[in-house]
Amino acid sequence: DLYNFRQIGPDTKVHGVIGKPIGHSKSPHLYNAAFKSVGFNGIYLPLLVDSVKNFLTTYSSPDFVGYSYTIPHKEDGLRCCDEIDPIAQAIGAISCMIRRPTDGKLMGYNVDYLGAIAAIEEGLRASNGTTNVGSPLAGKLFVVIGAGGAGKALAYGGKEKGARVVVANRTFEKAQELASKVGGEAMTLAELENFHPEDGMILANTTSVGMKPNIDNTPLSKKALSRYSLVFDAIYTPKLTRLLREAQESGAIIVYGTEMFINQAFVQFERFTGLPAPKELIREVLVRNT
Ligand code: ATR
Repeated sequence: DLYNFRQIGPDTKVHGVIGKPIGHSKSPHLYNAAFKSVGFNGIYLPLLVDSVKNFLTTYSSPDFVGYSYTIPHKEDGLRCCDEIDPIAQAIGAISCMIRRPTDGKLMGYNVDYLGAIAAIEEGLRASNGTTNVGSPLAGKLFVVIGAGGAGKALAYGGKEKGARVVVANRTFEKAQELASKVGGEAMTLAELENFHPEDGMILANTTSVGMKPNIDNTPLSKKALSRYSLVFDAIYTPKLTRLLREAQESGAIIVYGTEMFINQAFVQFERFTGLPAPKELIREVLVRNT
């Protein structure tokens, strides 16, 4: 279904994912199928790009309305926006760019964190069976391991939802810098091992610890994990990482990294089209292509 477009015409809205490499991206499968299913006249292309600036200068037609950004262009993309959402600015990277119809200006957003936070909130809501309007993260102690792009996104997202944020990182200075920006607490990974001010904390791993081929690694001991009620691992795999396996054994709710991607796809689809995302279809396409 990758290029199973309906007729392309002068009103077709062109989208794409900008990255290098890009051949492996599941996004064209996902968005083309989703556009078609809701009858949106749009296409979505894999765009192998060296220089974001050159690309955007060349493809500046108003028909090119939306881009997703992936490795290694999330920071470059930010520098090429006409206007930047405050959270994307704070994170220092964009995940999508939309051409404003009224004046053609390129608007940059970061919705990665919305996907991760939505997945965590969903896990919490499902576990307490509540449908409260407020965020279930509000007032909770939210520990983020890692202070790279994903760590920043999660820390800002948690803060936005009213959580008390703790950033733990191998390089302490980076944890300190991020914690001070979000108004949270910083610690080393060794300190995190002995950190237990309360039970029922929420944990998000954003480091590559536990990623293939080092699947026996974990950023936190099983003993320390028992203090958490929910554990999210940003590592993108439908399998259990060691962290998630041990968290599950300790009785925590677990949230897979794939949920972050699925949820951010819902958000991006809605930004691109202005229509509600066909969630079941998006989930199905992603699972099928994983
Ligand atoms: P991303 O954009 O995916 O978040 P990144 O910016 O490269 O990736 O950040 C990687 C994060 O994983 C960092 O927090 C890094 O810790 P340092 O700041 O100390 O480098 C963390 N990380 C990577 N490998 C690690 C390891 N073996 N042990 C602990 N932390 C690790």
